[in-house]
Amino acid sequence: MTSELSPIDKAKFVAAKQATEYVKSGMKVGLGTGSTAAWLVQCLGEMVRDEGLQIKGVPTSVRTAKLAREVGIEVITLDEARWLDVTIDGADEYDDDLNLIKGGGGAHLQEKIVATASDRMIVIADASKKVDTLGAFPLPVEVIPFGMGTTQALIEEMLIGMDVLGRTITQRMAGDTPFVSDEGNFIFDLHLKRIGEPRKLSLMLNQIPGVVDNGLFIDTCDMVIVGHSDGRVTVRDILNDATEEVRFNVLDDDNIFADVTD
Ligand code: 5RP
Repeated sequence: MTSELSPIDKAKFVAAKQATEYVKSGMKVGLGTGSTAAWLVQCLGEMVRDEGLQIKGVPTSVRTAKLAREVGIEVITLDEARWLDVTIDGADEYDDDLNLIKGGGGAHLQEKIVATASDRMIVIADASKKVDTLGAFPLPVEVIPFGMGTTQALIEEMLIGMDVLGRTITQRMAGDTPFVSDEGNFIFDLHLKRIGEPRKLSLMLNQIPGVVDNGLFIDTCDMVIVGHSDGRVTVRDILNDATEEVRFNVLDDDNIFADVTD
């Protein structure tokens, strides 16, 4: 039941709800992956059902595609869409410049392709995702299975010359077996603790044969919408150099959380 939403889910929900303000009928919308993005997909589904919103959604993972169809959003491929009006997605970390670490859900490859093919990328998050310096969250790097031991060694060697605090690399697991991405690849998590030069690191990683892409999103996101469990939402727009606070009323009978369907 909605009254049972945890504080963190309330924060994610209000961020997602606010993000729907940027979606209008006729738009092609990139749909992110993860628990925050799932709230967005549900909110958009409600608007399609109840308000006649007409959008085409390009999902960034198999699981988002399934959810989008379930809630009634028309799903198309990126090749069908070619270019999108907006992509809305979660993030694992974001800094002051709105550079991101993504890929906690293992979907950063499709997420980056879709976000890059969009007029704008909006991140929705709870306040815990804000960091001064990226890197506390392990950086996901998608690698092809062929020669992955060699790829790991090349990454380790490259990291020696980088401004990072840790250099441990682990392979992402799903229980007892390696995690496999939607593209059939594996994921290394780089425990760097602090990434001094994210742009340089991203370029260096992507030069290594065997690396498909890494979870650093540099100069891709232009707006972050941060939700709080009391209904406050902060919208930071770096294109217009503006920050505004919105408040959803969560206290009276019009309780916004009561709108959430289970
Ligand atoms: C998936 C992602 C997610 O956006 C990121 O992990 C945040 O997820 P959540 O909203 O569940 O905290 O990058 O690959």
